[in-house]
Amino acid sequence: MTDAWSPAALFGLAGQVALVTGSTRGLGWAMAQALAGANAHVVLNGRDAAALEARVAELKGRGASAEGLCFDATTGAEGASALRAVAERHGRLDILVSNAAASLRKPVVEMSDEEWERDIAANLTGGFRLAREAARIMTAAGYGRILFTSSINGMIVRPGMAGYAAAKTGLFGLVRGLAVEVAGKGVTVNAIAPGYFLTDGNARTRAADPAFHDRIAARIPAGRWGNPPELAAAALYLVSRSASFTTGTVLTVDGGMTVSI
Ligand SMILES: NC(=O)c1ccc[n+]([C@@H]2O[C@H](COP(=O)([O-])OP(=O)(O)OC[C@H]3O[C@@H](n4cnc5c(N)ncnc54)[C@H](OP(=O)(O)O)[C@@H]3O)[C@@H](O)[C@H]2O)c1
Repeated sequence: MTDAWSPAALFGLAGQVALVTGSTRGLGWAMAQALAGANAHVVLNGRDAAALEARVAELKGRGASAEGLCFDATTGAEGASALRAVAERHGRLDILVSNAAASLRKPVVEMSDEEWERDIAANLTGGFRLAREAARIMTAAGYGRILFTSSINGMIVRPGMAGYAAAKTGLFGLVRGLAVEVAGKGVTVNAIAPGYFLTDGNARTRAADPAFHDRIAARIPAGRWGNPPELAAAALYLVSRSASFTTGTVLTVDGGMTVSI
């Protein structure tokens, strides 16, 4: 085998700079570890400075290159200026994983205009702002990978999650729309749609309703919830140089849940 076919050549990220939003826990943390494991310099993000510092230390302790950037990735212009600052400091930004999200559990008939707008802003507009800034930097550089964490809630949904579902479906449209605009400039834009994964984000729901865990597992053809590394591996492919002809797609990672009846 030639070196061109080695995992390092196909999926290695040495010399690249990656920003992963919402990466002190859960799926973001798993994706950040995969990118760091492939030798990218990883910029971790979250709203808790102490948690960020601990995760950066953990990665560095394993010999990885990392830094933390504390900002709210789902509101205002804060995220875009933080992203710009990363690119200016390192002279490049190769990878954006827009992963942070927020979810409001409320039936549509009880939702105010403000709650709807907040849900869409947190789960769609925040990612749009980051991706717009990343696309400007990446198209100028002639290379980049933009990856959104959407959800199978963009396809199937439980009651009380219409705003979240609308925003996660909206990400599919953003992916396609942006992908066709930047495809000729070396930049790919994709989304990953996780099914049910065991993360801190849903730990409270699982604790409050222990039968929920089993009920969901029974609906998944794989017969279980996903483990975060199973998502991280898919993300690593989509942000790698190897994925240069894969753009405008949504990769579903759900143990078969959305294809089963
Ligand atoms: N877990 C699943 O089964 C599942 C399924 C489908 C889709 N998803 C999607 O996957 C993504 C991650 O979910 P998760 O379950 O891994 O969540 P999680 O375990 O709750 O972790 C969320 C991470 O994001 C950070 N965060 C939250 N809000 C933020 C904000 N406004 N700005 C910056 N950072 C923020 C959190 O840190 P701080 O709170 O300290 O800021 C934490 O690091 C989300 O987009 C979610 O919609 C998850």
